[in-house]
Amino acid sequence: MLSRRQFLAALAASAVVGACSDDSNGGGSASSGRGSTDTTGPLPRLDGPAFTLGVASGDPTPESVILWTRLATDPVDGGGMPDTDLPVVWELASDDRIGDVVASGVATASPRLGHSVHVDATGLDPARTYWYRFRVGDEESPIGRTRTAPAEDATPERLRFGFASCSHWQDGFWTAYPHLAEEDLDLIVFLGDYIYEGDPDPDAARVHNSPRVRTLEAYRNRYGLYKGDTGLQAVHAAFPWISTWDDHEVANDYGSDFDPLGAPPEEFLQRRAAGYQAWYEHLPVRLDPPAGPDYRINRTVPFGRLAAFHLLDERQYRGAPVCDAEIGPVCEEATDPRRTLLGEEQEAWLADQLDSSPATWDVLANSVILSRTPVPLGDDVFYNLDQWDGYPVAQQRMLDLLAERRDGNRVVITGDIHASGVADMWQDFDDDGSPVIATELVGTSISSGFDEGYLDIAEEAVRRAPWVQFFEARHRGYVTVEATPETLRADYRFVEAVDRPESSISTATSWAVEAGKPGAQEA
Ligand SMILES: [Fe+2]
Repeated sequence: MLSRRQFLAALAASAVVGACSDDSNGGGSASSGRGSTDTTGPLPRLDGPAFTLGVASGDPTPESVILWTRLATDPVDGGGMPDTDLPVVWELASDDRIGDVVASGVATASPRLGHSVHVDATGLDPARTYWYRFRVGDEESPIGRTRTAPAEDATPERLRFGFASCSHWQDGFWTAYPHLAEEDLDLIVFLGDYIYEGDPDPDAARVHNSPRVRTLEAYRNRYGLYKGDTGLQAVHAAFPWISTWDDHEVANDYGSDFDPLGAPPEEFLQRRAAGYQAWYEHLPVRLDPPAGPDYRINRTVPFGRLAAFHLLDERQYRGAPVCDAEIGPVCEEATDPRRTLLGEEQEAWLADQLDSSPATWDVLANSVILSRTPVPLGDDVFYNLDQWDGYPVAQQRMLDLLAERRDGNRVVITGDIHASGVADMWQDFDDDGSPVIATELVGTSISSGFDEGYLDIAEEAVRRAPWVQFFEARHRGYVTVEATPETLRADYRFVEAVDRPESSISTATSWAVEAGKPGAQEA
């Protein structure tokens, strides 16, 4: 292993300045130790600082972690970068000043991928903290901190993670993020709605930078806006993230090739491809870049034998909406047994993952609410048909799957509705005597609002759903979770306000699931 000084000397000697366009490494990725040496001339002059979007890491394994950055001198207007491949040096060290470099290399930032870089830094030790940074020309990125997963067969004493979702730029300041960056955590799970694709609202505290997003360039500019937030950058620089998406990474309430705003499927699939590519370009995911509108992102991230995270994609394969309503009674069409939310392949994959998981805690990273949430209105019962409730047969299959593990140690973590909740999941929500089989922890949004007009209705509905242990819709924030072999404890962290740039935070309520005892108790 070279020291940092030796490495830089070697770099200078091989004159790695200019384009290196080795496509064999997965496009914009580079493996540990890869040092491309194609040289075609000096580095083009950049129009300003290039690391405007910070650094990130994600999808840790016991021996590796994905390191991410994207070069953009003008992130909200096309990126501002020259239309050429650029070499980006990366270094990963065992100390926070990058003195003891243990892995390093040169990655390629290509205009094809918005000059984003995904490096798989390999050869690392399990359950260890590392620091990393990038360099382009003379410019150094901020330093990020990351952590590898424990060894496959290790049983760590504890795992601490935070989960978050739904950061609408226009709905408020992300006052939660600076607090999240200060927590003592191993990783972050992000459950979707990282960006919102909609139009500008001139009355908002922070206004969107373009009309409704439909093209790759517009998605990139929207990520450029969102990722300019320093609190968000701090959370990325503090912990590895494992991320899935929900609808707003492409379009509100979309399902497979169906656009609620009525774009024809072939046009919508092009937009979906653009949204998926921009998502890849801006998140530290252990995936190859997408090539078109079909992009498999469901995956499992194990944390020794203590926990496993199963990241679900609940948009790409779901059946199109039916019943002519977003919120309404479940119509007959919705009960068609062929109708799925995960798609057959992902459903079978999840069953396999759960069946073969050695983990004490199986955590399902789930974008939309899985537990039944009926809203009685007059003689009718309304449901949010965008949630699992709109796919009742698939929902029951999921409940049956969770019930296969009799100890209740399958825990579902959910975003989407901009409110907090804790539910004891019943295998049969129609049967008062049904066993509790699992727990769903719903985290509130980072900033996205819960429509106050629905508050009374929602609170009344929850009072009539005996499996719901806790519900609160007035506060924004995140959830931190500590899992040990005995207990999984969730602290609901609420900020006081999002209508100003800074806010205090406090723990509003805590819930615990005991291993082997299905259901949550207030802790
Ligand atoms: Fe959302």
